Amino acid sequence: MRNHARHFFDRGWCRFDYDPELYRWVEAALAPARATLQDPRLGKWLRYQGTWFAGVNALPNDAHGAVGASGPLRGAAVEFIARELGLTDFAWDAAQVSICYPGYPLPMPGESPGRARFRRERDAAHVDGLLPEGPGRRRHLREHHGFILGIPMVEFDTDASPFVVWEGSQEIVREHFSRRFAGLTTELWGQQDITEIYHAAREQALVECERVELHARPGEAFLAHRLILHGMAPWRAGADAGVDGRMICYFRPDPFGPQEWLNNP
Ligand SMILES: [Fe+2]
Repeated sequence: MRNHARHFFDRGWCRFDYDPELYRWVEAALAPARATLQDPRLGKWLRYQGTWFAGVNALPNDAHGAVGASGPLRGAAVEFIARELGLTDFAWDAAQVSICYPGYPLPMPGESPGRARFRRERDAAHVDGLLPEGPGRRRHLREHHGFILGIPMVEFDTDASPFVVWEGSQEIVREHFSRRFAGLTTELWGQQDITEIYHAAREQALVECERVELHARPGEAFLAHRLILHGMAPWRAGADAGVDGRMICYFRPDPFGPQEWLNNP
């Protein structure tokens, strides 16, 4: 576990081996996760000509991560989050149910050629919580996630739109935003237009950091640092997956404010 911590803080991510407690959660959560696709209120999340169900906050789990008969989220990843990130007793958010299908990303109406290319060639690389707003897509710090926990729900292979990270980019992002927010009280951070500094950090990370694809199986999990540049690769021809596609649940709770978001390890 010590190794996990060093790996996580140096590279910005780590992977957890098969965990029977997590596997039992996946078994119980799979039916509710599948059901999100049938919910008409969630139809808006089916994008890119049906090749990606983004499913943001779609899983109807409670603040302990329990859904259906799953019971609370438990196991090695949750213990790591408590011990190494110091995060306990927070409310788990409703998980994202992210499902990719063969062909992702087919063109989406209204998406500019530049953004479509960035999605295809740069995995739609982004940092969570810096939301684009308005026609100019100006970005502001709106969410302060503690981490990103990825839980594969079904079997699929490494070519099925893997989660991608740029290793070590969390420190590049931290450095840029530390400079940008220096001398400002935290109440003012959310008001700042951070579009330019975000793009600068992203460009530097894309140039300097190694791009790594993560894969895991049901019962395994991966944890990404809240500040890491990450994305999702296109579906490669010949990728092997079942009818559920590449289904991953992501938890991204907001356990603290901007100060911790920027400065915690
Ligand atoms: Fe993300």
